[in-house]
Amino acid sequence: MFGMIPCEKGPIPGEYQCIERIRLEMSRKTRLIVDGKTYELPLVTGTEGEKAIDISSLRSQSGLITLDVGFANTGSCKSSITYMDGEKGILRYRGIPIEQLAERSTFVETAYLLINGELPTRKQLNNFSVLLNDHSLVHEDMRQFFENFPRGAHPMGILSSMVNALRAFYPEIPEISEEEEINVTVTRLLSKVRTMAAMSYKISRGHKVVYPRHDLTYAANFLNMMFDSPVRPYRIEEEYVDALNVFWILHADHEQNCSTAAVRLVGSARVNLYAAISAGICALWGPLHGGANQAVIEMLMVIEENGGDVTPFIERAKDKKDPFRLMGFGHRVYKTYDPRAKIMKKVCDRLLKKMKISDPLLDIARKLEEVALKDSYFKDHDLYPNVDFYTGIVLRALGIPLNMFTVMFAIGRLPGWISQWKESMDDPAWRLQRPRQIYVGNGKRDYVPIDKRR
Ligand code: SDX
Repeated sequence: MFGMIPCEKGPIPGEYQCIERIRLEMSRKTRLIVDGKTYELPLVTGTEGEKAIDISSLRSQSGLITLDVGFANTGSCKSSITYMDGEKGILRYRGIPIEQLAERSTFVETAYLLINGELPTRKQLNNFSVLLNDHSLVHEDMRQFFENFPRGAHPMGILSSMVNALRAFYPEIPEISEEEEINVTVTRLLSKVRTMAAMSYKISRGHKVVYPRHDLTYAANFLNMMFDSPVRPYRIEEEYVDALNVFWILHADHEQNCSTAAVRLVGSARVNLYAAISAGICALWGPLHGGANQAVIEMLMVIEENGGDVTPFIERAKDKKDPFRLMGFGHRVYKTYDPRAKIMKKVCDRLLKKMKISDPLLDIARKLEEVALKDSYFKDHDLYPNVDFYTGIVLRALGIPLNMFTVMFAIGRLPGWISQWKESMDDPAWRLQRPRQIYVGNGKRDYVPIDKRR
């Protein structure tokens, strides 16, 4: 409310208008003039002062729509989950800077924060961990699915299929409330996706499946399920668990990226959460998105095979005639160093030093970054290392196979997808997502019988 201050007479005779209110109202609107006609549209201002023109009434007022291929200038929703500033390299989950979470939190605690909006009390965190543990087993009948995929099947294809299949094995429970149903489904997904990832790895190698243990934390359990074996018990290194927690925290959410937008769009048709998450996994698989962490390592391996000289690859990335791009570089939102890449680079250095691991690809990555950041092409295009540039080196140090790198990203992004899906489902203004288009095809023409076609 505005304090009533002595004001001039308002535009409506006899009604006093507060100057503040007029100024505020004017700051909430903008005008669009097309073909001499003026349309007034509301302005929306975010927590950090970022502004948007609300065009939801544009077509009904003017018959006009907007066009924004790739949605680089288009907001799809208002959200309270993650804040990014691409120019300043800021990333916060529910207001908490990513640097603090990476330093002091765990992936399970960060998942709770994203999904519930607040950091958990000790009791809430303990209950959440117990629930995750209770839901960590996968239905035994699902093993046949894993066993019948071709050995060379990509783990992301297996994961998206198996997540979608979860609905068949865990149908809706009519006796419980919708909220309880969602809570159970959320915990099942967070816990079972991790188990399924390890399970698919073991089965793909013809190894005995290792079950989750109640005495291990989320990340330690995953590593144990991946690498424990009856003939060679796996030693869980604290450094590996710490590195994996930070990896997953950094990947946990990233506002309306491609895969999250897919989860929201598919979710807007009111499909079950498993189906919406499966769509997110498929979108993340792409090499321009989550698949980049695998593509970075493949690129570094090719550079190594070619003697380690980064210059030819820098030149190819700059050559418009060459489709080659520097994997792990550039970002739709960050026009400076991705804050996650800064953290991941430190984790990389710390982990390899502590575990006395020497990885030639790390030296090549460092060289590539050094040369690229000095090159005007990358500076002029605001191209800096993104989250994927160093993560692959950490995953290699953990022993994760290359074709599972994007699966690791998917496990990390799960709490983000879930929180964004929940936020859209809880939004009273939310409706089926159905973009429009501008048609540029043939004008009206008649059907031609086949013997008259040329
Ligand atoms: C992720 O959105 C998210 O938040 C995603 C993510 C998340 O957490 O969810 O952060 C995860 O997907 C990180 C990005 C991983 N992808 C890669 O590392 C692949 C390599 N990078 C790109 O292909 C590219 O930078 C994108 C796809 C990430 C962003 O591309 P944009 O915003 O669509 O930009 P663009 O393709 O229009 O490129 C703009 C210019 C072009 O040159 P011009 O035609 O204007 O002269 O920059 C050039 C591009 O050729 N360019 C690159 C480049 N990336 C952009 N040139 C060389 N190498 C690159 N990597």
